[in-house]
Amino acid sequence: MTATAFWLAGREATGETSFDVTSPWDGRVVAQVSVPSEAQVEEAVAAAHAVIDEFSATPAHVRAAALDHVSRRLAERTEEIAQLISAENGKPIKWARGEVGRAVSVFRFSAEEARRFNGGDAQRLDTDAGGTGRLGLTRRFPKGVVLGIAPFNFPLNLCAHKIAPAIAVGAPIILKPAPATPLSGLILGELLAETELPAGSWSILPVTNDRMPALVKDERLPVISFTGSDTVGYAIQQSVPHKHCTLELGGNAAAVVLGDWASEEDLDWAATRIATFSNYQGGQSCISVQRVIADASVYDRLTAKVVAAVEKQGTGDPSDDTTDVGPLVSEDAAKRVESWVDEAVAAGATLLTGGKREGATYAPTVLADLPATATLAREEVFGPVLSLHKVDGEAEAFAAVNDSRFGLQAGVFTHDLRTAFRAHRALEVGGVIIGDVPSYRADQMPYGGAKQSGVGREGVRYAMDDYTYERVLVLTGLAL
Ligand code: SIN
Repeated sequence: MTATAFWLAGREATGETSFDVTSPWDGRVVAQVSVPSEAQVEEAVAAAHAVIDEFSATPAHVRAAALDHVSRRLAERTEEIAQLISAENGKPIKWARGEVGRAVSVFRFSAEEARRFNGGDAQRLDTDAGGTGRLGLTRRFPKGVVLGIAPFNFPLNLCAHKIAPAIAVGAPIILKPAPATPLSGLILGELLAETELPAGSWSILPVTNDRMPALVKDERLPVISFTGSDTVGYAIQQSVPHKHCTLELGGNAAAVVLGDWASEEDLDWAATRIATFSNYQGGQSCISVQRVIADASVYDRLTAKVVAAVEKQGTGDPSDDTTDVGPLVSEDAAKRVESWVDEAVAAGATLLTGGKREGATYAPTVLADLPATATLAREEVFGPVLSLHKVDGEAEAFAAVNDSRFGLQAGVFTHDLRTAFRAHRALEVGGVIIGDVPSYRADQMPYGGAKQSGVGREGVRYAMDDYTYERVLVLTGLAL
């Protein structure tokens, strides 16, 4: 098997060693991926650093055309790329197709934003005598080279969320895909190589995790955009406190169902959405539904519907169009989820459905009566497991959502606009979704956490702000 090449300063390259990428479903070797040597990593970083000024000054139409090109090519190659995502990640093919569609949008949004982005405004400064005839003109400039570190759970789209906004603002980027799922990120290199972007403005390097601390500390990479676990994210931030770190970390997202969401139709919708989005990507999304917080007046009816809907989620071969839930990223990951559920049940939780593991596949699982001390109640499960909690009224529901060290997104099922506004004020999260699950994400929205779910925001325009800083130009002697 020929090793898949990586992308060094815009050109294809191979190193002397490689590693296997295996399917979490059947363990087959999907590909071997070439690993860049120390010298090749150095070459990529030096090239990125050298191109800072040129790339920042590249006209918007050049950057936008490149982004549009990648968007179009992703759309043309959807099926092939979806199969690659599914093979390396174990994601059911229907969800993998959806992920490619989202990446198409991320590149398209980035092209559109590149055309209108200047981040600037003009401010008259003659508000005091000393500022007579003066105008402040603010524009945004890249902070420098971005080091993007992507996770395995959306191996294409979360790479897209790092690389496309960097190109949109003219910031060089070194992207490191996740070791378990590098192929989807590397495909982006094939498409970017078809564009006119300056050499050095982008590299995609499957560097092994043990070599990352040195790269993180490299002073030529002042911006780090990391998506992954809170443990790794905070370790990165603590190792380079002077750098700009965007951290997209975990969550144990809650869906709240309030007493006014009570008709059969209401509860059917809530139950279906909760069941689907507790289990999509095998629950391996930072905003998958982990906690359902339901008003006592609807709790019993909702519970029956959620259990029935979860039992309809079919596990199986991710390449099968009808599969809803594939394997987790590895058997070890499934074993960890199993141990958390077993611990919860031993501590008094009631298992309503699921609770079984077969290899890397964990059955969609619903628990009630989860003790507050259980690991599952406090931490991010990152698996197809949800717990149901009964509360009395809105205030108790919102307090339960906030009783978490995380705060990424929350969903609130209510028809009352005033309740929606109170939720928006009260919930300590980066996003509140009304009438749906916390898992809703449109790729142009600001996306990121409060509390220990991270710092900074993704979502194309917001990442562009994050990668740049304001520089004011004061003009004097003007007739204002
Ligand atoms: C994540 O797991 O943080 C990404 C969720 C998404 O993009 O839908």
